[in-house]
Amino acid sequence: MAVQARTRRQRARVVEVADAAEGVRRIVLEPEHPEHAAPGTHIDVETGNGVGRVRSYSVVRSEDGGRRLTLSVQLSPTSRGGSAAMHRLRVGDELSVTGPLQNFPLAVGAARYVLVAGGIGVTALVAMASALRRRGADYELVLAGRSRAVMAYLDDLAAEHGDRVRIHVDDEGTPLAVDDLVAGIARSSASAATELYMCGPIGLMDAVSQSWAEHGLPAANLRFETFGSSGRHPAEEFLVRLPQLGREITVAPDTSILDALDAAGVETLSDCRKGECGLCLAKVVGATGTVDHRDVFLSESQKERSSSLCLCVSRAAAADGGPAGPAVLSLHLT
Ligand code: FES
Repeated sequence: MAVQARTRRQRARVVEVADAAEGVRRIVLEPEHPEHAAPGTHIDVETGNGVGRVRSYSVVRSEDGGRRLTLSVQLSPTSRGGSAAMHRLRVGDELSVTGPLQNFPLAVGAARYVLVAGGIGVTALVAMASALRRRGADYELVLAGRSRAVMAYLDDLAAEHGDRVRIHVDDEGTPLAVDDLVAGIARSSASAATELYMCGPIGLMDAVSQSWAEHGLPAANLRFETFGSSGRHPAEEFLVRLPQLGREITVAPDTSILDALDAAGVETLSDCRKGECGLCLAKVVGATGTVDHRDVFLSESQKERSSSLCLCVSRAAAADGGPAGPAVLSLHLT
């Protein structure tokens, strides 16, 4: 079903816009062909004219059989396209969207669920938490952020889920201690039957994954959504050289390599565009800076070797103390 929805683009009208937190806009859409959006689904949205302006956003709420879909979008400080265009939307505007697409399904029947949201990653977990409450499941919702002002849906979630919510705020001196959280799961009597769902910055998700493995918890019980991920370095402009084609292409801070290549007319392969499937892998034949791997397809040791990268999400950052000017990545497309 998801494949059909992915190929069927449709119009959706903006019927509400409001602030959900500092720098986060809540946008309610009425799609032309309503379809209920299950917990964990997202829609792909064309956020401007031309190639390379498709962004994926979690469906925060699906009401009235999918007639009203709520998204929430964090404004990227470097955005000139995606999130900035979404923040400019007004009631009555129209967008081209897909139907709901499912890459992050909520399983039925776990003894216990732990949902971990970092920052804007909460958007992937709001509907899941509601579904678990309605099912009468045993669950805990862990919300982590830099400060309360930028954490969307905090009050709504606290009101809906009461003492099942744990809030960790960096500037209040209560940051999330990932290892304590995972160690607590490992010590519990339901450890082997606890599922953890997470969405947030890549540093948080890496820390959870590492701790999960160190405590010997089942890998299949750890599930994640990646498109809220940020890299280890701030997004900056860099250059991609393609020696096989004799081309050099600039990648702006708010554009992926894949989108920059598409816009320059260079043919590429891709599917998920979220760093999960590996279809867009390219060989790295040289780099003046650091490769900022933002995918979940390559293993940690492959990322350390950096002999390939995922064009759809990974980037380059100028090395501290390295040559002046933007980083340069030389790639061989396969
Ligand atoms: S398109 Fe799937 S990893 Fe890049």
